[in-house]
Amino acid sequence: ADYIWFEGTPLPNLQNNKEILEEFLPEFVIRDENIIIESYPKSGTNWLIEIVCLIQNKGNPELIQSVPIWQRSPWIETKIGHQTLINNEGQQLISSHLPFHLFPKTFFSSKAKMIYVIRNPRDVLVSGYYYWSKTKFAKNPESLTTYFEWFLKGNVPYGSWFEHTRGWLSMRKCENFLLLSYEDMKKDTRRTIEKICDFLGKKLEPDELDMVLHYSSFQAMKENKMSNYSLLKKEIVADGFVFLRKGTTGDWKNHFTVAQAEAFDKVFQEKMAGFPPGLFPWE
Ligand code: A3P
Repeated sequence: ADYIWFEGTPLPNLQNNKEILEEFLPEFVIRDENIIIESYPKSGTNWLIEIVCLIQNKGNPELIQSVPIWQRSPWIETKIGHQTLINNEGQQLISSHLPFHLFPKTFFSSKAKMIYVIRNPRDVLVSGYYYWSKTKFAKNPESLTTYFEWFLKGNVPYGSWFEHTRGWLSMRKCENFLLLSYEDMKKDTRRTIEKICDFLGKKLEPDELDMVLHYSSFQAMKENKMSNYSLLKKEIVADGFVFLRKGTTGDWKNHFTVAQAEAFDKVFQEKMAGFPPGLFPWE
């Protein structure tokens, strides 16, 4: 499938999500009670959703083992889980990959909290290459070389990583915005969970925190059919689709040529100039 182009940004093509984009989104009212999980695809979004769901349930896995992840935190811009959101009532968690400039404007005058997760774009690229090769709702790259070029041009679902990240990072000093990285989540998951608890105003007992850690681990999520996307219909993913693929940092080193690594560094430095050192833990 080709993309849906929405105001200049390529987006996945999930049957009727053109209507969602054109009719539903512009009218969508974000409530103060909403918690929004926002990211560029393949940055650890679903891991974060799992953690937040577990925090809300004090580590009890009942919910995450009985309701598919895309219904627990529905995506505003796609058909998947969208039904849950029609009136945005009683639903606290919302997910989105939309770039800053396409996000429903009511958010910016609300008290809703947003957690934005970033990841080394080189690993995002590799993860995305495997993911989009097996989905039927976006263009399938025939090789990593092809996908590498698309990625640098922003000709991939949700557009340029660089623009997406620049856009949302403009909010990094706002009180209702929490910036996390996949790298910090991997390095110290417990500390990240504590940060999220502080941000959401939740207090967990040590044994509850242990449960959150346990049930959000790569292995636990991979084995949980409500979280590993194995329930996705065959019409939208191809054979061999694996959502929880590797779950590591630095896999790009196993994939990039020396020339690609150099080309990427150059683009990164150009496009991300001006941000303080230390903002990107992988650099
Ligand atoms: P890889 O393809 O590198 O394995 P998103 O949810 O934003 O689409 O991100 C998907 C990436 O997050 C995949 O990366 C996936 O394996 C990884 N991931 C998902 N759950 C994880 C977990 N519990 N621990 C570590 N990585 C996880």
